[in-house]
Order: sequence, then structure tokens, then C-alpha cells
Amino acid sequence: MLAGKRIVLGVTGGIAAYKAVEISRRLVDAGAHVVPVMTAGAEHFIGATTLSALASEPVKTRLWDDPDTPIPHTRLGQGADLILVAPATARVIAAYRIGLSTDLLTNVLLATRAPVMMCPAMHTEMWEHPAVVDNIAALRDRGVHIVDPESGRLAGGDTGAGRLASPEVIVAAVQRLLSPGDMAGLRVVISAGGTREPIDAVRVIANRSSGKQGYALAAEAAERGASVTLVSTVDLVAPPGVAVQRVETAAEMQSAMERLAPVSDVVVMAAAVADFRPVTAVDRKLKKHDGVPQIVLEPTPDILAGLGARKPRRQILVGFAAETDDLEANARRKLDEKHLDMIVANDVGAPQTGFQHDTNAVTIFSPDAPAFVVPLADKRTIAAAVFDRVVSMRVSAHPT
Ligand code: C5P
Repeated sequence: MLAGKRIVLGVTGGIAAYKAVEISRRLVDAGAHVVPVMTAGAEHFIGATTLSALASEPVKTRLWDDPDTPIPHTRLGQGADLILVAPATARVIAAYRIGLSTDLLTNVLLATRAPVMMCPAMHTEMWEHPAVVDNIAALRDRGVHIVDPESGRLAGGDTGAGRLASPEVIVAAVQRLLSPGDMAGLRVVISAGGTREPIDAVRVIANRSSGKQGYALAAEAAERGASVTLVSTVDLVAPPGVAVQRVETAAEMQSAMERLAPVSDVVVMAAAVADFRPVTAVDRKLKKHDGVPQIVLEPTPDILAGLGARKPRRQILVGFAAETDDLEANARRKLDEKHLDMIVANDVGAPQTGFQHDTNAVTIFSPDAPAFVVPLADKRTIAAAVFDRVVSMRVSAHPT
């Protein structure tokens, strides 16, 4: 519920501006006080009267609208619990990234300490333009909450990525951000990325895991109030508030996980751990003229199975499974054999899922429960679905 929350809803000039009316209505229905701010561009797409009617106050458009409040940008920003920009055009994203204030909305964005959530909407070419990609990455690094656009029909009959996320998704993201974290007080450890097993001083056996799913899990858990440590093999930017323990090999990951897991309430093994490693790593570079080397492999320890065997009571242990066939049978077998509470299985052969993509599609299995399918979505949405289930598992295991 959003009772008592004050949300400045910034609406910029895109065809999706009409959806801001529905977003405003839903936020007001959930109890929020919505203060609408429209840019000059937005006024070309929707009437201020419509938005005013479904918000909590009349629309504000200019810095000098209100004779009683000559500097509304500071008042609006200071009093807000959230600044939500939906839709956010490439222009407002760029202006906010570089700190350029040209109108009431950009002034409000700069004159606030409230969290900011931006919901981009634009044509695919614009969304994928390196300048926009770069601006979005910079804003994310700064802690701005970005609700990724969807793929679908765009203005002018085109189809592709860039359509504003649906009002349901946007309002759910707002609710998650503003409600007291349902993971507050929980200690969570998450492994991310693929391990690298040395062959010699320069070569490794690696895999294609990008670590993106693990980082999305960490960002989600931290935002829901958990205290999160990532045990990671990759150098992605750590989500705000997340501690990172950098590791390289399965052995290093094992010792970090075994140190952190016993004091954690939730453990997620999202890393792609090598199953085999060279028995010995040569400490110099193997030379081509010495001939083709014989690399003898040995199995790595199954970190997750070890954590399952020593799982403290009340801990929730989550594994991942990348499968190419017999998804359910393989996932349920691992769930059972490794003593897991949940396994998140993805079909790595399917389009847009798994390694290196920004999206994933998974099926979540837990003992004695039907499979729960999360269709193709960004990795943050997958993370939210995983932790929704973790939270409900804890509640049903230990009702208050
Ligand atoms: O059995 P499989 O390797 O498919 O299981 C995948 C799960 O086990 C993942 O959660 C992965 O992080 C974990 N794993 C592990 N140690 C290994 C191999 C996999 O913890 N050596």
C-alpha cells in the first residue's frame, strides 16, 4: 500500500504519455498522493485536464505557475517520497544524467534527495543508441531505478524494444520501492558469474556466464532491505549497498561461500561453477613449440551440494540449473539430491534466455509445490519472482 506516500509523477513528451493517466489513477487508488508535472512536450500528447482529474493535484507545467510558491521545484522535490518519470524520453534521461535543468521537471529531478524511478519509452533505434545506453547505465550506477521498457508495438506501427512498461509493472515497482522491505534484517549471500580455472599462467577454462542474473538478484534483495554479499567472478558495478567478495576459481568460491553461508538466512548459488578443472596449473606460459599439452582434468567440488548437506535450520538455499533438455526432471532431481529449498531452471537453448542476455525465462521448482513459470522478462523481474517465493516460503515456514 502507498498510503501517505507523496509521488511526483513527471510526464514527458512521448506517445506513451497517455499511459501516465492510468499510472496516476492506480497510484492514487493505492493511497498515494500524486503530484503531476508535465513537460512542454507532454502537453502535445495529452491534455493537462485529463491528468489533473486522475491525480491528487492539478498538473504543474512551469517554474512560475503558482504565485504562492515562486520556487515550486524545491518544494516539490523536498516533499516527495519518490520522483517517478513515466514515460521518460531520451531528452529527459540525457538532461538528468548531465544535471541540466531546463524546465520544471528537470529542476525537480535535481533539487531532491528522494529516490528517482525512470520508465523510458522511445523507438527501438533511440533506446539502443549508444548515447542512450550510456546514459541509462550511468543513471543506474548512480542508484536511479530504471523500469526497462518492453518489446512490442510502437508508435507508427513499428515493433521492437522501447515500449513503456505496463502500468501494472510500473506501479508494482513503485510499491516494492516504497513499502518497508519484506527482506529487512535478512542476511543474503549470492554467487555470480562463471568460475575460471587456470591451465597455465595466462590461460583458463571459463564459461559464458555474465553474472548479470546474480547482480540482479543482489540489487533486488538489497532494495527489499536485505544485507547482501555477492561472491562474484565478474567486475560489474556493485548494486548500491551490496558488499562484493571477488573470487576467480571454484575453490575460491567454495571457501567464500562456506564462510558466509552458515551466517546467512538465504543463500543463492547463481554462479556457473566449472565442473572440471586442470589437476595442476602450470605456473608459466605453456609454449606452442613444446607441442600440444595433455591437460588432465579433475572434478571440482559441488559447492551447492556441500552447502545443502550442512544447511542450517531455517536457511533457504536456492540453486540454479541451466538445462538444454528434460528441464523439469533434471531440476527436480537436483533439488532433491542437493537438499535445496528452491531451484531456478532455465532452458539455455531458448532464445533470449540465460547466459549473457539481459532477459531470462525460468521455471521455479520447490519440493511439494507445482512448477512456477516466469515468462521471458528482464533479469531483475526474474530476481523479484525468486525473492517473492523466498519470502513466502519463510512466512509459511515460520508464521508470526
Ligand atoms: O548440477 P549442476 O551443475 O547443473 O547444478 C547447478 C547448480 O549447482 C548451480 O546453482 C551452481 O551454482 C551449482 N554448482 C556448484 N558447484 C559446482 C557446480 C554447480 O555449486 N561445482
